Amino acid sequence: MAAYLAANQTRFLDELMDWLRIPSVSADPKFHADVLRAADYLKARLEEAGVQNVEICPTAGNPIVYGEYLAAGPGAKTVLVYGHYDVQPADPYELWNSPPFEPVIKDEKIYARGACDDKGQVYMHVKAFEMMMRDGQGGVPCNIKFMFEGEEEIGSNNLEIFVKANKEKLKADVILISDTGILANDVPSIEVGLRGLSYHEVTVTGPNRDLHSGLYGGAVQNPINALCEMIASLHDENGHITIPGFYDNVDELSADERAEMAKAPFSEEDFKQSIGLPDSYGEKGYSSMERTSIRPTLDVNGIWGGYTGEGAKTVIASQAHAKISMRLVPHQTSAEITEKFKRHFESIAPQGVTVEVRPHHGGEPVVTPTNSIAYRAAADAMETTFGKRPVPTRGGGSIPIVAMFKSELGLDTVLLGFGLDSDAIHSPNEHFGVFNFLKGIETIPHFYRNYAAAQ
Ligand code: BES
Ligand code: MN
Ligand code: MN
Repeated sequence: MAAYLAANQTRFLDELMDWLRIPSVSADPKFHADVLRAADYLKARLEEAGVQNVEICPTAGNPIVYGEYLAAGPGAKTVLVYGHYDVQPADPYELWNSPPFEPVIKDEKIYARGACDDKGQVYMHVKAFEMMMRDGQGGVPCNIKFMFEGEEEIGSNNLEIFVKANKEKLKADVILISDTGILANDVPSIEVGLRGLSYHEVTVTGPNRDLHSGLYGGAVQNPINALCEMIASLHDENGHITIPGFYDNVDELSADERAEMAKAPFSEEDFKQSIGLPDSYGEKGYSSMERTSIRPTLDVNGIWGGYTGEGAKTVIASQAHAKISMRLVPHQTSAEITEKFKRHFESIAPQGVTVEVRPHHGGEPVVTPTNSIAYRAAADAMETTFGKRPVPTRGGGSIPIVAMFKSELGLDTVLLGFGLDSDAIHSPNEHFGVFNFLKGIETIPHFYRNYAAAQ
């Protein structure tokens, strides 16, 4: 196994870099042809690796790449591997040190949009499979179904339809996903929770046109001022969210559970330093690690309106806009929080403006079991390849389909991710460590072997 990896790693990296050159941005229709090309590239590489029945499954949006390896036989366990080949937009391009779709390896890291999220991590699975097929060390011990979508970054709406329509085809014993991270390269960990999401676009409307701020200013409500006041009121002085009922269903961890969590190595100093901040900030009474995992949050993702061009223009805008998201924890639901947010935000509109709240896609939070044979197979695999037992962590990000896999297919997920928080996913200069890519390829076959052997 080690010999095969060593002999082929340059080719593995080259193939990944070729894939990263295809800008499969799902959010922007101008990249649609590239999204299709990225799906074709993945199909061809799966076929080369020995995956059978590889199909490009059309959806109302971007296609799903699906393939199977069922030769382990009807008595063997079946693993459904999920990932996504779409990537976030690369904007703002000028902040990249090298162009986002011209991958380079620098300081032992692959720099490109999608390097870590999630093409690099999907490609670990393709190459781990190739290695099991070819290295003559016992083959592939499980049946595997590969399902890779092209719309994760825009809400997975069509994947949900596909899953609901193909329950028989997708029958499996567990879901395996590499789209999360570890604490550090010498601190392996497995995420056992993901937050949910409730996402909204809000519009505050005042006068029927933009006004001269001298002729009208003072006598009308300014929509931008109003929006800022409304947003500011969504947190109190302790960083708590003020939406009525927001915390009603939040799963409060016991003191023991919190003490257990606090054992995970986390450096507050490194956290601040890595993002260039003098101080961290957040909900009173919780640590940074808790604030980014077991606590729900509310953040403005974008805000615009009025004049933002060169120089000064004296104007009161007719409208102001913002995108506001909330990360949810068990047992909040996106429907419940969406309803509470909408009702509250509309109710706090000051006199003189109207408010419209438009909900976008949402997602449900999850916690995955740590007492399952699949989790143990993953933890043992990491222990073998890292030389250290991984610690379970609760992640702050969202992968909404994980809850859907549970509700629609009845399957638990193992989040066997290899990224780092510092990989700058969704940001300029996204990268993925060569160490992490190769460690993933090395670890995944151990997972299959451990899982196949487990009772
Ligand atoms: N892979 C990420 C989520 C993630 C990253 C989870 C790191 C845990 C650790 C995924 O591609 C993502 O970006 N999800 C979105 C939600 C989606 C609905 C757009 C997110 O978390 O913002
Ligand atoms: Mn992802
Ligand atoms: Mn992402």
